[in-house]
Amino acid sequence: MKKLLLGLFLVFQVSVYADNYVIATKSTSLVLEAKKGERLNFIYYGKSPKNISEIYDSGIALWRDAYPTFGMNGGQENALQVIHPDGNMSLDLVYVSSSVVAKGDTETTTFTLQDKVYPFKVNLVFKAYKANDVIETWSEISHDEKKPVLLQKFASSYLPIRSGNHWITHLEGSFVNEAGVVEEQLTRGCKVLKNMDGIRNTHTSNPSFMIALDGKPSETVGDVIAGSLAWSGNYKISLDKNESNLLEIISGINETASQYSLAPKEVFSTPEMILTYSTEGKGGASRNLHKWARESKIINGTVSKDILLNSWEGVYFNVNQQNMNEMMRDFASIGGELFVMDDGWFGNKYQRNGGESSLGDWDVCVKKLPGGINGLLECAKNNKIKFGLWIEPEMTNSVSELYDKHPEWILRQTNREPSKGRGNTQLVLDLTNPKVQDFVFGVVDKLMISHQNIAYMKWDANMSLVNYGSQYLPKDKQSHLYVEFHRGLRKVLERIRSKYPNLVLQACASGGGRVNYGLLPYFDEAWTSDNTDAMQRLNIQWGTLCFYPSSIMASHVSASPNHQTGRVVPVKFRFDVAMMGRLGMEMQPKDLKEYETEYAKRAIATYKSIRPVVQQGDLYKLISPCDNSQFASLMYVASNKSRAVLFAYRTLYLKEQPSPRFILQGLDPDKSYVLNEIGNLKAGVSTISQEGKIISGKFLMTQGISLPLDKDYGSLVIELNEYKL
Ligand code: GLA
Repeated sequence: MKKLLLGLFLVFQVSVYADNYVIATKSTSLVLEAKKGERLNFIYYGKSPKNISEIYDSGIALWRDAYPTFGMNGGQENALQVIHPDGNMSLDLVYVSSSVVAKGDTETTTFTLQDKVYPFKVNLVFKAYKANDVIETWSEISHDEKKPVLLQKFASSYLPIRSGNHWITHLEGSFVNEAGVVEEQLTRGCKVLKNMDGIRNTHTSNPSFMIALDGKPSETVGDVIAGSLAWSGNYKISLDKNESNLLEIISGINETASQYSLAPKEVFSTPEMILTYSTEGKGGASRNLHKWARESKIINGTVSKDILLNSWEGVYFNVNQQNMNEMMRDFASIGGELFVMDDGWFGNKYQRNGGESSLGDWDVCVKKLPGGINGLLECAKNNKIKFGLWIEPEMTNSVSELYDKHPEWILRQTNREPSKGRGNTQLVLDLTNPKVQDFVFGVVDKLMISHQNIAYMKWDANMSLVNYGSQYLPKDKQSHLYVEFHRGLRKVLERIRSKYPNLVLQACASGGGRVNYGLLPYFDEAWTSDNTDAMQRLNIQWGTLCFYPSSIMASHVSASPNHQTGRVVPVKFRFDVAMMGRLGMEMQPKDLKEYETEYAKRAIATYKSIRPVVQQGDLYKLISPCDNSQFASLMYVASNKSRAVLFAYRTLYLKEQPSPRFILQGLDPDKSYVLNEIGNLKAGVSTISQEGKIISGKFLMTQGISLPLDKDYGSLVIELNEYKL
């Protein structure tokens, strides 16, 4: 924030702008007006003006209450609604003071608001990440009243957007069909993105959106605001377009069944709402988020990710010493780097042979794996690969030693029979209980203490919060459960991360149920879907990439016919789709045909060579698979623009329906590039006419290239390297 330097202004102008506060990033500004004793006003969010007066002179200044509260605001939607101990339901917050803390690339501005009558306070915080044009905002609610205040609604942020032809881009879907891109015009009225699962919040809709301000969204041009709520629990984002065409967005924890009794002096911090503003369409907004996320939000976000084999679709629950050893050997022989043993490895009194038992009993099953985890680590070491395993530590089954010992640790209402999940036995542990938090931390800690070389854990969560009742929370705090569960989870993850910062953790929740920025500070990557069909994955990955970077997107090549859809897809297409994220495999390698094994070996080597560009480069989307077209294409460009990788796909071949030209993006128009097809089906054979040709960035980005994609499941990966004399 900088209080504007207004030296050049005439005296009467100073009095107009002197109370403006600018939350500034490299190219954007969020402007608030703060006058002591008056409401804090939201004035502007957008491209930085040359001079603050432009905002006012253009008539775009908004003068909206920056954090509207219930009771003194007429019919307006509110961010905060409370009941004071005396029954009064109103708040009237006025600006008292502000502070600024600068740290590295960030600047955090806190506005303190105070009620005019009650000792009730809100800190409204804005954290600007300057280089990547991202602003996080949240509120910290507290009071000094004699008794608890009941919070009925407690949003993270209110964002008004100037009138315009607003279009929303957001994700919707379901289990095995996550992250479908939906684009629609916002008309007057209210659109709500929400979740009430309690545990997993991204199967259906994701707490993220983009708003194109002036008409149908484009990847390349136009003003776009993107937002994402950093919360792993129930959320609600309401987008209300009012009679003046002003769009008001209120984002936060979903207040349904969550009213919170806030004790005097306790501080309720709401999750961060992440905002970015792009003048380069949706593509610019995605790139801002990706770069910011890698550099500032995701744990180890700039570290290169290993190519892994996960055992799930290869052997499912049928884990044993022999097949684990074989899989490690086979994967190592084609260049793999990490093996992950999925479900089925634990439980002794009750063996884990299906979904019906043993969650909570995290001891290796000695019958299946007599050499124990040490034996597996030894085998991995001999094959020169790393080793990891699957856990689902927030859960138990009614058939487990843990449940026999601690029936009081599960979520349930004590006077009702709990509903069960998977296997008709699964139950959720009560993470509000510190003893349960210790236990969940201990699942990871014990494994790591006895096996320091475990490199990776896939952390799953396969159940919703169906039994709304905590055996730990007191009677008058039962309505805190949805919130406290995730606070408990966060506490556990913080402990794990401070002790094991380099252990790679994958967030999985029945596939893509936990792809959110609430968890990514603790998880290196996410499993975006249990659907591994390359064809459907094109869409799932396309959607995921709107808001989340490729480095977190675990993408695995699986068997053909595919286990979810039965679709038969050539091995090259399967690899080429998986290579647009963090490449992995999820199958039994010994089932591959000889030519597929040979191909896999080459594809893995290829991925290693392009990995820095794919995982850390800037994404440019060229042709969307969501438009129901037969084609899809995207590219990653290294930040110095000396290298790029282009992916092009054709899902369906129809006669006399030629490929489009592929107009490239993100290159340096003044550089020239050498084009080479990589990941060819046959070693040393290129299928593109541009092989080895030198073409200028300018030509590639205006005229484009045509590509030979003339079959079902045709795909190409092309590397572009700067040509230097
Ligand atoms: C969930 C995950 C899968 C797999 C199974 C194991 O469904 O999404 O990837 O790990 O659990 O039971």
